[in-house]
Amino acid sequence: MKWSVLISLIYFLSDVEGLKVLICFPLPVKSLSILGQGAVRHLMEAGHDVTYITVYPLKIKAKNFRQIDISTNTALVASDESLTMEYILNHKLERNPPNQVQEFAVEALKMTLNHENVKKLLEDPNEHFDVIITDLIESEVYAGLAVLYNCPMVWLYSMGAHWQVLRLIDVASNPAYDPDYLSPNMPPLTFTQRAEELWSRIYWQYLKTFYTQPEERSIYEEVFGPLLAKRGRPLPDYEDVMYNASLIFANEHDATRNRASTPQNFKYIGGFHIEEPVKPLPKDLQDLIDNSKHGVIYFSMGSVLKSNSMPRKLVMDLLQMFGEFKQTVIWKFEDNSLQGVPKNVHIVNWAPQPSILAHPNVKMFISHGGQLSSLEAIHFGKPIIGIPVFFDQFTNIHKAAQNGYALRVPLSQNLPRDLKPAINTMLSDDRYAKQVKELSDLYHDRLTKPGPALVYWVEHVVRTRGALHLRSPALHVPLYQRLYLDLLAIILIITFSIIFLLIRLCNNKNGKRNDKKKSN
Ligand SMILES: *[C@@H]1O[C@H](CO)[C@@H](O)[C@H](O)[C@H]1NC(C)=O
Repeated sequence: MKWSVLISLIYFLSDVEGLKVLICFPLPVKSLSILGQGAVRHLMEAGHDVTYITVYPLKIKAKNFRQIDISTNTALVASDESLTMEYILNHKLERNPPNQVQEFAVEALKMTLNHENVKKLLEDPNEHFDVIITDLIESEVYAGLAVLYNCPMVWLYSMGAHWQVLRLIDVASNPAYDPDYLSPNMPPLTFTQRAEELWSRIYWQYLKTFYTQPEERSIYEEVFGPLLAKRGRPLPDYEDVMYNASLIFANEHDATRNRASTPQNFKYIGGFHIEEPVKPLPKDLQDLIDNSKHGVIYFSMGSVLKSNSMPRKLVMDLLQMFGEFKQTVIWKFEDNSLQGVPKNVHIVNWAPQPSILAHPNVKMFISHGGQLSSLEAIHFGKPIIGIPVFFDQFTNIHKAAQNGYALRVPLSQNLPRDLKPAINTMLSDDRYAKQVKELSDLYHDRLTKPGPALVYWVEHVVRTRGALHLRSPALHVPLYQRLYLDLLAIILIITFSIIFLLIRLCNNKNGKRNDKKKSN
């Protein structure tokens, strides 16, 4: 008895020590790669062996780290004019169309799986992994990696609990209270908004079912079919694979209100990408912020939008507007050639964002409202002025405003005129700062920090060979059964049959009576 305990103990210990982990972040989106980097860091620190497929290679040299460089995927966004400030100012988007997002994901998928470095990895018959972690945006074909390596897989989702990912491990949450991640609607929804959400879901599903998924299925079969044949195994059906993840990690946390309910294999690890303690600031920034006795306003529009695509006049007007404040303004802007920068404004090409936000003198964060920036604002307790530009940024800022720690300002040629009163409100009204402090306390008040939680769950999945015990029974119940449409059909058939019979019976009686009358 004792021996068996000891042996299983040794087995369990050795089982998770030095796991071989494949982390795949194929999209050319910098902020997503920051999440990938976070996962790499935590798993390496836990002693695991990490292979990282990435568009933005890291400068890490370690025995337990290897990179598969797919930086050429940036070609996908380099030529995309819809990502320039010029285009956005002229088109006033409030919501990216679903076909655009689905197509983008499939293009990235094709580029990644056809990349020679990835091919080399996949074709090596000696390669094996214990677990796959892959970024999840709109395309599930990467689940084929788990089939190839015959190991469990975990999705890492950059947002919160949305129907599009919940449907992969449970059921799609109800559109009546869980709007799409690209939707500006926030619950509680009005009648029209509910109808809108239902429609947008039907439309998304229509596109996915009839256009995107057939293409994904054929990519899956073309790429993984031959690879598995070489390893002497048959290729399972695509649908059995895409719904077979062990866990979903979500980059969200408990302080956020109005979240959809989630199954037991959906884990919130929001904030895991933030290094703790934060790295010290560079000396010049440290001195600058330390000596700003009226406080600091930090302004950054993230990494996707290039500042140099901003119209010159807009830049000059912003500078002039910032110059009217006595606060120090730190503006992350990739252009050193600006003339006439006011004394209180400091342009930096690169900003150690977490370290800046961590400083107590920083009073507010003017941001595009990307998921990472929104999270960091809560982590460090700084109120936001949001200027959303695309994708989930509208939702993030709506949510932050609803949670009481953000103001939204639209991106337009009039940005400086609209931004100024918002800054004044933030400076004079401490409600926003108080509210974000409260949320920050909620956010930090958890059982385990998100990084160790990530490591624990990955190890747990491997230890339990896919964590089948955490799977939702709903996953295998089709929609018509969940809605009891079959029962409804039976009830309707019986009811109509009875009504039909009764009518026949009545008619017959009447007929007979009439016959009698006639014969009389
Ligand atoms: C689904 O995942 C489990 C656990 O990782 C695995 O044992 C099983 O083979 C997978 N099924 C398919 C069809 O890939």
